[in-house]
Amino acid sequence: MPQHDVVVVGAGLAGMRAALEALDQGVDVAIISKVHPVRSHSAAAQGGINAAMGQEEGDNWEVHAFDTVKGSDYLGDQDAIELLCQEAGEHIIEMEHMGVIFNRDEEGYLARRGFGGASYARTFFVADITGQAMLHVLYEQVLKHHQIKVYEEWFVTSLIMEDGRCAGVVALELLTGRLYPIRAKAVILATGGLGRVYEPSTNGLVCSGDGISLAYRAGAPVMDMEMVQYHPTTLKESGFLMSEAARGEGAYLTNSGGERFMQRYAPNKVELAARDVVSRAEQTEIDEGRGIDGCVLLDSRHLGKELIHSRLHQEYDIAMTYLGIDMVEQPVPVRPGVHYIMGGIKTDVDGAMNIAGLYAAGECACVSVHGGNRLGANSLLDTLVFGKRSGRHAADYAKSTPPAGESEAVITPDEGQIKALFERADNGERAPLLRTEMGRMMDEHVGIFREKKALAQAVDKLKEYRERFQRASLHDKGKVYNTDLMFVLEMGFLLDCADTIAASALAREESRGAHYRTDFPKRDDESWLKHTLCYYTPDGPRMDYLPVTITQWPPAERTY
Ligand code: FUM
Repeated sequence: MPQHDVVVVGAGLAGMRAALEALDQGVDVAIISKVHPVRSHSAAAQGGINAAMGQEEGDNWEVHAFDTVKGSDYLGDQDAIELLCQEAGEHIIEMEHMGVIFNRDEEGYLARRGFGGASYARTFFVADITGQAMLHVLYEQVLKHHQIKVYEEWFVTSLIMEDGRCAGVVALELLTGRLYPIRAKAVILATGGLGRVYEPSTNGLVCSGDGISLAYRAGAPVMDMEMVQYHPTTLKESGFLMSEAARGEGAYLTNSGGERFMQRYAPNKVELAARDVVSRAEQTEIDEGRGIDGCVLLDSRHLGKELIHSRLHQEYDIAMTYLGIDMVEQPVPVRPGVHYIMGGIKTDVDGAMNIAGLYAAGECACVSVHGGNRLGANSLLDTLVFGKRSGRHAADYAKSTPPAGESEAVITPDEGQIKALFERADNGERAPLLRTEMGRMMDEHVGIFREKKALAQAVDKLKEYRERFQRASLHDKGKVYNTDLMFVLEMGFLLDCADTIAASALAREESRGAHYRTDFPKRDDESWLKHTLCYYTPDGPRMDYLPVTITQWPPAERTY
């Protein structure tokens, strides 16, 4: 039976950064990933990574921290945000030294662009493929340190819980269809987001909230799950991400009248206001009849061919491939689309949670540095800062912890569930169809604008989906690469996530950050300056609340 000191679940930026740091601390490390590491969703992060490194007079980590607090609509924990921004610079330098070829300006310094909600241009970038560039470099580092065992295309079905602590994972080898216990003294969940709770979404199909659900089922609270980010510029029809990098370089948003409507909603920052503000403005334009076929237009023509081809080439290719639109010549139809979950597994700044031996980092975790709304280009930073910290602390914990147990029986419940699926007739519910139906319902009922009746309907609908899910069946009864089975298991994770999102959104009777209630349109600090917690129960989420940590920035009116 495989045994390791630290097992990291997920091979995106947070996971690989955590694994490298744990290895540096001298322990035995393994990574488990359901896809090849460079297919992790971090590859889709486009626009850049934030750090205030004194590059511009007036900018420093505290200004970055304040922008982040304001961006979070004062729901982010300020001690964690301070740490994120203080440690940012060293991570950029570290990545550069590892081999990330960041763009440079004419004087040879690392180039920067402006991003939403930022007081200064402090986003470092590799054209519009920043996440992909960083992911490949971290994977090179993992290969270089060949002591890290990588379980490629293994799917984690549950956590091994023994004596009140996490002692490894149960994982399905997709190649053979066999289940194994993989024992570990410490487990770090770095499984990314849950964007596929919604349809459409900028997220890859792999973003099914696995780690969030695994921790939740094991007894960890999930926090601020109502805070779901809609990115302002996703491509018409397909919903692909059109990076904020375009607006950072100077692209405009216009409505059907050719008006730069953001001037009305955010006169100072216009297109570079925080994402929640821009997405709501776009949706208002569309809902009030000033959209074009359900979209607004992203106009980059004035940026010129050379800039578009050198700094925005991925966006260019996406618009050309999927809509046949040449960004150099024509504006691109875009609309808000689900992109990121600010909430997640509640952790401290070292990735630790309320279960010994269990850690989380990256999008699946809620530290909380993003609060009610994440600033663009703070997520890549989050993966590195908290990935590294969780790797270090999990390694320390593993060093002082006796080896995990050896029982093979821990796989029995998951084996039983999978066997039952194989034995069921193939005429039951189809997970892919259920997933799409749920995603559309969530977009309609728990979307940019929310109100009590629709949210309550969503809670009821999710109960119905859960019942139908009990009748899920497989068409593919084979053992090798059974993605039909994987889709069913992922559907269970997605349902857990959706339950907590809808319940938290129904409970929060105010508007803050990405959570906008048309029936409670104002932020209410007196009653709601607090985090939402959800604990798993068989009857649905049990809610609790936790105060927000304020260090130096008391809540103030938020305008852009
Ligand atoms: O628009 C973007 O490039 C996305 C960046 C992010 O979510 O941080």
